[in-house]
Amino acid sequence: MITFKNVSKIYNSSGKQVKAVDNVNMTIEKGEICVFLGPSGCGKTTLLRMVNRLVQISDGTIDIGGKDIYSLDAIELRRSIGYVIQQNGLFPNMTIEENINVVPKMLGWDQAKMKKRYSELMETMGLNPEEYRKRFPWELSGGQQQRIGVARAMAADPPVMLMDEPFGALDPIIREHLQNEFLRIQKDVKKTILFVSHDIDEAIRLGDKIAIFNKGQLMQFGTPDDILANPKNDFVQDFIGSDREIKRLTLLTVKDLLNKGKKAIRKSNIQFEADDSFVTPDTDLRTALSELLSSPSGEVVIVDQNHHPLGVISFSDFDLFTGVHPTTLKTVIQ
Ligand SMILES: Nc1ncnc2c1ncn2[C@@H]1O[C@H](COP(=O)(O)OP(=O)(O)O)[C@@H](O)[C@H]1O
Ligand SMILES: [Mg+2]
Repeated sequence: MITFKNVSKIYNSSGKQVKAVDNVNMTIEKGEICVFLGPSGCGKTTLLRMVNRLVQISDGTIDIGGKDIYSLDAIELRRSIGYVIQQNGLFPNMTIEENINVVPKMLGWDQAKMKKRYSELMETMGLNPEEYRKRFPWELSGGQQQRIGVARAMAADPPVMLMDEPFGALDPIIREHLQNEFLRIQKDVKKTILFVSHDIDEAIRLGDKIAIFNKGQLMQFGTPDDILANPKNDFVQDFIGSDREIKRLTLLTVKDLLNKGKKAIRKSNIQFEADDSFVTPDTDLRTALSELLSSPSGEVVIVDQNHHPLGVISFSDFDLFTGVHPTTLKTVIQ
């Protein structure tokens, strides 16, 4: 658990004072991903770097697992926190294996243990350990370098990770791929992660919680669904965009409809031809809605993995389930 209590940061730059972080209060539970979201300059990086004491706190306290970070030795603290930045921060003169082993080496691990950990991490990242062992960072693509940056931060298995726009510089397809990989890994490792982003879609996809900032102040803290359903003020509403109802749909799947909206799902006499469009229980509702829009009958068949029909969805199911009138959904999505 990470707790921020009345945390502020004032920078003094050439005689001028800048309040970069303004009295922030929030608690992030163990094993959760909290995305710090907001426009450039709103204090996300400053707040993140206060956690590993790369930036000194001006006022307030930050506790990790109930301990004030200033009661701990700074070097010890940093070793217990993995840190990933946008430009991956790999050492250009070190091989991939050496880069990944930086922290384990400082911790005095023996060669066999480091070698094993290197291979394990590379497998996790979907990279062949032997192929990359002796390569240098510049011999890798941007996406591969970011994977190595994440692997390096995880090397000594720290309970906490700080990630500052780690996928921000990548093109959208590679970025989405890495986001999905990251979620898959997090399912197993369950780290407590503070993740900086300026991209609402990334925040919705990755965050268990989202903290939205403006000018150093915490505007809203909550689950993606909380924030999309009930933006607390005009700033949050503008920042998340007018299509927030549609974004909310990406958080839900057809399975949710099957579970909760059973009454609306017709199950008998389903006509399903091989080339009809269909959805599966894992399809997100945003995608399902697109399928509905392009279906002449206004209905789409739900099939299981063997292509056996499970039911049919129509616009009225969305109304019932999301509380958003289908006409609104149609207008927003078109
Ligand atoms: N070392 C510094 N000295 C003075 N001002 C700084 C320093 N670092 C950041 N700032 C200022 O603090 C504010 C927040 O910056 P930052 O935390 O980098 O925001 P973000 O990561 O959200 O883009 C900005 O106004 C920025 O100019
Ligand atoms: Mg930043």
